[in-house]
Amino acid sequence: MLNEWYLDFLDRGYKPGESDIVALFSFKPARGISDKEAIGRLASESSVGTWTTLPGMPKRRIYKLMARAFWWRKGFVKIAYPIELWEEGSIPQLLSGIGGNIFGMKAINKLKLLDAQLPKRYLRKFKGPLYGKDVIRKIFRRKKGPITSTVIKPKVGYTAKEHAEIAYQLYTGGIDCVKDDENLTNQSFNRFEERVALMAKARDRAERETGDVKDAFINVTSPSLEEMERRITLLHEYSFRYFMIDVVLSGFTALGTAVELAREYKMAIHGHRAMHAMFTRHDHGMSMYFLAKLMRIIGIDQLHIGTIVGKMEGNKKEIKAMAEMMKAKEIKAISGIRLPQKFYNINGALPVASGGLHPGILPALFNAYGTTDIAIQVGGGVLGHPKGAKEGAKAVIEAIEAYKKGISLREYARNHSALNEALKKWGYVRPR
Ligand code: 3PG
Ligand code: 3PG
Ligand code: MG
Repeated sequence: MLNEWYLDFLDRGYKPGESDIVALFSFKPARGISDKEAIGRLASESSVGTWTTLPGMPKRRIYKLMARAFWWRKGFVKIAYPIELWEEGSIPQLLSGIGGNIFGMKAINKLKLLDAQLPKRYLRKFKGPLYGKDVIRKIFRRKKGPITSTVIKPKVGYTAKEHAEIAYQLYTGGIDCVKDDENLTNQSFNRFEERVALMAKARDRAERETGDVKDAFINVTSPSLEEMERRITLLHEYSFRYFMIDVVLSGFTALGTAVELAREYKMAIHGHRAMHAMFTRHDHGMSMYFLAKLMRIIGIDQLHIGTIVGKMEGNKKEIKAMAEMMKAKEIKAISGIRLPQKFYNINGALPVASGGLHPGILPALFNAYGTTDIAIQVGGGVLGHPKGAKEGAKAVIEAIEAYKKGISLREYARNHSALNEALKKWGYVRPR
């Protein structure tokens, strides 16, 4: 009645070409809208269409550019997009289509972007991680993981001086990296510049005393691009090999700039995913899986993806699919979760397990993730140790040693007092 052309976007016979981008969505039409009507709207509004026909358009050219829904079943649909629709190397522009207006259409009740298969021609323009899992070898000069880090708790409230003093305790207790929390940036009580200067001193002192490489994931999340660049440069000048950034809050454009600077300074990027759950957790939004994939291709070296055993939500199947995707050169489809993907020129990234970890549940974590290519982050489970930060750090290291030696924590704790105290306080509880 409105001269709609939505059904022109459905083509069950279509076979996606080698350079098409294929997106997988789950969807639920609004009441009174058929699956086909909903799917037509999705393909149309995410590519070339609007709500009515356009008599003046150059039909032949536009029909070549339009998306085609070619497969749908039980609330899932796959839509193929010609590569010419997309600007080379721009995630903001990609999401303006497959993550854009379609999420707000009245005709669609629920919609989730689960994954998109990105062809070689599209990936070519992305940098991918400079180090990824090679941080273990190239920055920490070890053959195998895990990389250990501790976020100082309380999340915020310590002065820069207190922060660096605790960092020193953590370093000398055996932790590799001290991490800022996602909401610690440059508050009045703990200014970025002061924290960086004092943290560099703590790092150098700990390195001299232990002979190990120490670094920090200091948060450069900023109110403007210029300020973010200034903070990254400052960290580089203080010889940090890493910076941390809240990847969702900072936005894809900021990440592009951050990646360029990281390459120039040969720094690795630790990505914190705060705010992802606003759109990844339920059945309307984008999957954490696809967010992690975007981070890998953009060039985030390591990213929080959940723990299975800790305090953050995330189902085991999805987390395992994600951990594999972050590292592999090529992956296979998993129904309802992901599409196949080859990564070509894009290095693997390192998964970070964080959120509610403590020594007692590290073996369960390692059973799921392995210990070789992983970074773990233990905050409350270190700072909450009854004997303080340094003993808390030691307890984590002892738990890792026990696991690697194949000895149960209970047994190992008999002659490792830091671990023993941690187990007395937390046992094997899985925090919520
Ligand atoms: C927008 O960007 O605001 C939409 O594309 C709206 O387009 P419409 O007026 O054709 O609905
Ligand atoms: C993080 O930013 O990774 C979290 O603050 C984790 O802290 P926790 O180890 O205390 O749960
Ligand atoms: Mg945190």
